[in-house]
Amino acid sequence: MSIDHSRDPKPVDQDVLDGQSAYHKRALAFYDLMVHRGSAPFFWRCPPRNFLQMYDTCVGAEHVEIGVGTGYLLDHCRFPVPDPRITLVDLNPATLDFTAKRLAKYRTTQVVANALEPLPLPKGAHDSVALSFLLHCIPGSLREKGVVLAHAAEAVRPGGVVFGSTVLSSGVPVSRAGRWLMNNLNAKGVFHNDQDSLGDLREQLDKHFAGHELVVRGSVGLFRARTAAQ
Ligand SMILES: C[S@@+](CC[C@H](N)C(=O)[O-])C[C@H]1O[C@@H](n2cnc3c(N)ncnc32)[C@H](O)[C@@H]1O
Repeated sequence: MSIDHSRDPKPVDQDVLDGQSAYHKRALAFYDLMVHRGSAPFFWRCPPRNFLQMYDTCVGAEHVEIGVGTGYLLDHCRFPVPDPRITLVDLNPATLDFTAKRLAKYRTTQVVANALEPLPLPKGAHDSVALSFLLHCIPGSLREKGVVLAHAAEAVRPGGVVFGSTVLSSGVPVSRAGRWLMNNLNAKGVFHNDQDSLGDLREQLDKHFAGHELVVRGSVGLFRARTAAQ
């Protein structure tokens, strides 16, 4: 395991910090239960198998994970090789530490970085980048935070894959309980998805990639996108 401490010197806005501050060490101990076994299946109506299917079919041997949380999906998915190299990127060092320990069976590198800024990673050097449940934590409309997709696209090789998921607030079915939780999380600054529509997500994927697939499961948009082959 290696650690890159090259923190982006640019100051980070308070609402961006709010989107990652919930993921402190104590909270991470309950995250899998609360999110992957709790809110995702019961409030967003998207059970864990949807995320795992996407990981199993998209992760490559040189993988970047942006917004790592606890590393639950990386721990449970199947890599195409026994010894993948995984770069973990997050604004919150506690999540990097937690995930690197959990993935001790793999070679990991930790990078503290804000996904809204260009990533301090080699360009065009990775097979895959994942952004799972990241965009709904980031402030702004999808037109503004779509830049995160552009940064992910820069990190993959030509023809590489960028995939992920985000909870949307319009253009998808949202249950009454889901709307209540979403409003609550937006009010607390944990979520920033009150402007996030399916149409805007599709537009951003069109803008930043040569091609993409976008499917809706419950209130979640799951996407896989490819950069141009050369
Ligand atoms: C909801 S968790 C998702 C964790 C994991 N990917 C999953 O699917 O369970 C969001 C993660 O994104 C990170 N995060 C939030 N805002 C960020 C930003 N602007 N740049 C980088 N990471 C960010 C948080 O610290 C947290 O680890």
